[in-house]
Amino acid sequence: MANIFTRTATGVMDWVNARAPGMMPAYRKHMTEYYAPKNFNFMYYFGSLALLVLVNQLVTGIFLTMHYKPSAAEAFSSVEYIMRDVEWGWLIRYMHSTGASLFFIVVYLHMFRGLMYGSYQKPRELVWILGMLIYLVLMAEAFLGYVLPWGQMSFWGAKVIISLFGAFPVIGNGLTEWIMGDYLPSDATLNRFFALHVIALPLVLLLLVVLHLGALHEVGSNNPDGVEIKKGPKGNRWSKTAPTDGIPFHPYYTVKDIVGVGFLLMLAAFVIFFAPEFGGWFLEHDNFVEANPLVTPEHIKPVWYYTPYYAMLRVVPDKLAGVLVMFGAIAILFLVPWLDRAKVKSYRYRGLLSKVLLGLFALSFVWLGKIGAGPGTDPTETIVGRFLTFYYFAFFITMPLWTKLDRTKPVPERVTTHD
Ligand code: HEM
Repeated sequence: MANIFTRTATGVMDWVNARAPGMMPAYRKHMTEYYAPKNFNFMYYFGSLALLVLVNQLVTGIFLTMHYKPSAAEAFSSVEYIMRDVEWGWLIRYMHSTGASLFFIVVYLHMFRGLMYGSYQKPRELVWILGMLIYLVLMAEAFLGYVLPWGQMSFWGAKVIISLFGAFPVIGNGLTEWIMGDYLPSDATLNRFFALHVIALPLVLLLLVVLHLGALHEVGSNNPDGVEIKKGPKGNRWSKTAPTDGIPFHPYYTVKDIVGVGFLLMLAAFVIFFAPEFGGWFLEHDNFVEANPLVTPEHIKPVWYYTPYYAMLRVVPDKLAGVLVMFGAIAILFLVPWLDRAKVKSYRYRGLLSKVLLGLFALSFVWLGKIGAGPGTDPTETIVGRFLTFYYFAFFITMPLWTKLDRTKPVPERVTTHD
C-alpha cells in the first residue's frame, strides 16, 4: 500500500519538476536548505504564529463574507444572523474576532523580540522595514474590519478616527469627506471599507509577508545571541558549505513550531469558547447595539491594540499636534535600524542601561495602552500619559547616544548552544 503511495507521489513530483524545474530548488532554499540558527528560543515562535493567524483570518473571513451584507441597512442584522442562524456561524465569527486580537498579541511580541535581539540591525534593515509596513497595513485592516458589523463602536470609532484627518490644515475637511464618501460614516463608507477589508488590504498584506520572508531568507535569521552564523565555521551534517551552527528549517523548526501552535490554539480555544468578548477588550459591549448617528456612546475608545497611540492623541492638548504625535510614534519605529548605534546586536551582550531603558519602554507602551482604554477624564492620568509619551519619543531620539555610551560584553564567536 505504502509503495503505491510513494510511487504515485514520486511520479507526480517528477511530472511537476519536468514542467516547473524552479519549484523544487525554491522549496529547498526556503525549507530544507534554509539553515536557521540552532539556538532559537520561544521568542522565535511568533513569526510562524503570525502566519497561522493570518491564514485563520483569511479562511474565516471568506466564510463570513458568504453571509455578511455590506450595507448600512443590513450589516448589523446580517452579523446577528451569522451568530444565531448560520450553522457554526458563531464559531466562525468568534474565530475571526478573536484572531484579530491574537494577531496583534503575536505581532507585538514578534516586534519586541526584534528589539531585544537587534534583529533590525545590518543586514536585516529591509526585513524590519517590510515588517513595519505589515504592521501599518494590519492596523488599517483591523480598523476597517471593526467598522463592518455596523455597531455603535463601529460607527463612532470610524467617525472619530476619520475625523482626525480633518485636523490637517487646508485639505483636512475635503480629505475626511473623500474617505467617508459622505459627511458621516454611511452606506458609502461601509461599502468601500468592505472592499478594502476583504480584498485590497489582504492582498497587500500577503504580498508584504512574502517579501518579508524573502528578504529574511536572503540574509538568514538572527538569533538570541545576535551572532551571525554565516560568518562562523562552515559544514554540518547536512552540507559541507552550510553554517556549522545552522539546522534545516524543515523538519527541525517546522516540528518545533508545532509546540507554539499548540499553545496558541489552546489560548484561542479558551477565549473563543469561554470569553469571546474578553471582558469587552476583544469585542466591545457597545458594538452589540446597532449604529445610531443620533446617540453617542458614553466612552468612545478603540480596541486595545490601538490604545497606546490613542492615549498619545488624547494627552496632547492640540488636535493637529496630537495627530502628528500619534503618527510620529509609529513613524519613528521605521528608523530604529539607524538609531541603534550599538556594536552588538542582542541585549544579552548589552549593558544594564540598555536593558533598563528597553524594559521601561515596554512598560510605558503598556501603561499608555491602559490610559488610552480608560475614559480619559482623570487629570492625573493625563499628566502621567504626557510623561509616558515623552519617554516613548525620548527612548528613540536619544537611542544613538545611549546605545553608543552603554557598555557591552564580549560577544562569543559562535552561538552559545553547542550541543
Ligand atoms: C503578518 C505579520 C507578520 C508575519 C506573518 C511575520 C512573519 C515572520 C516570520 C515567519 C519570520 C521568521 C521566523 C521568526 O523569526 O520568528 C519573521 C522574522 C522577522 N520579522 Fe516578521 N512577520 C510579521 C510582522 C512583522 C513586524 C510587524 C515586524 C517589525 C516591525 C517584523 C520583523 C521581523 C524581523 C526583524 C524578523 C527577523 C528576526 C530574526 O531573524 O531575529 N515582522 N517574520
